Amino acid sequence: MAGLITELLLPGQLDRAAELLSQGEIVAFPTETVYGLGANALDPLAVAKIFQAKGRPQDNPLIVHCTGVEQVEGLVREIPPQALLLMDRFWPGPLTLVLKKGEIIPEVVTAGLDTVAVRVPDHPVALALLQAVSFPLAAPSANLSGRPSPTRAEHVLQDLQGRIPAVLDGGETGWGVESTVLDCTEYPFRLLRPGGVTLEELRELVPVSFGAAEPGEEPPRSPGMKYAHYAPQAEVFLVSGPTAADKIQELSESFLAKGQKVGVLTWDERARLYPGLTVLSMGPEGDLPGLASRLYHLLRRADELGLEVLFAEGVPEERLGLAIMNRLRKAAKGREIIT
Ligand code: TXA
Ligand code: MG
Repeated sequence: MAGLITELLLPGQLDRAAELLSQGEIVAFPTETVYGLGANALDPLAVAKIFQAKGRPQDNPLIVHCTGVEQVEGLVREIPPQALLLMDRFWPGPLTLVLKKGEIIPEVVTAGLDTVAVRVPDHPVALALLQAVSFPLAAPSANLSGRPSPTRAEHVLQDLQGRIPAVLDGGETGWGVESTVLDCTEYPFRLLRPGGVTLEELRELVPVSFGAAEPGEEPPRSPGMKYAHYAPQAEVFLVSGPTAADKIQELSESFLAKGQKVGVLTWDERARLYPGLTVLSMGPEGDLPGLASRLYHLLRRADELGLEVLFAEGVPEERLGLAIMNRLRKAAKGREIIT
């Protein structure tokens, strides 16, 4: 695919995106969470191009994006009543449900699993695109595998320029972290990936399990979660607790002494605690939606600034904080310090 020139399409050129998709091509498009890289979910050859362009491991299944519950009904074996309740409440929106797959879904979409992940995105451009093509769109986040997910069309181009035929530019996405993934094939339902719809919100309607599997129990079944994700080039350290700032200052000294470029992800009110470090602003203290919306951009900024070490302050693991900490842990690849 080298030598391809990626078309940058505006929402007014949505027909061109739909045409490419109908021809079995792949196109990046905005959703309310992050940009997706879409293909006709019912066309195995088109879907295979997604894995190739992203460098995505073949055993990591894709989310199928739909116009609504009616389209989903044609793709799955059954919808449990409790799942229907969640669809009513949270769709369109950042909630992905894993259901028993119908015959019509090609194996390449689900990486051979007997389940399929489905969601209805809450973004006018995504919904218009889904309406314009008559098929559902399989779409992972539109980044190179292992890189932070794209929240702007320019992020898509940074990663996939020359590797995909087109990106539909819908401006900056809203949520900034990916959808919540919920396995509805067992009861209580199991949270596989925290995201825009919070665990607290889900539990207001249905029982949901989350966390490490009990000994002897099956591990969570989200193949994607085992890969290192969301990682900038810098070595990331996630530091939490009441004396996090002291710890970060102490650790940064040895890196600075070696001449390394060191940054810190912190709230605006705390930036003054880190003289000598490059500050990446998490925004006003405690604004979790604001932080979620800029998190991936900040991780990409760390690369642009040439940071070699990046300290990230932890946030409380409640509501959106659960998704934010999940992504920061993956970026930190196990380098987590609790003071
Ligand atoms: O917000 C989002 O979900 C974005 C936008 C584009 O919709 N998409 C996204 O896709 O984040 P991706 O491929 O980056 O992440 C999909 C996650 C992976 O962790 C994958 O393993 C999991 O969903 N998944 C997909 N199908 C599954 C299945 N049948 N069973 C369990 N997990 C599944
Ligand atoms: Mg992804």
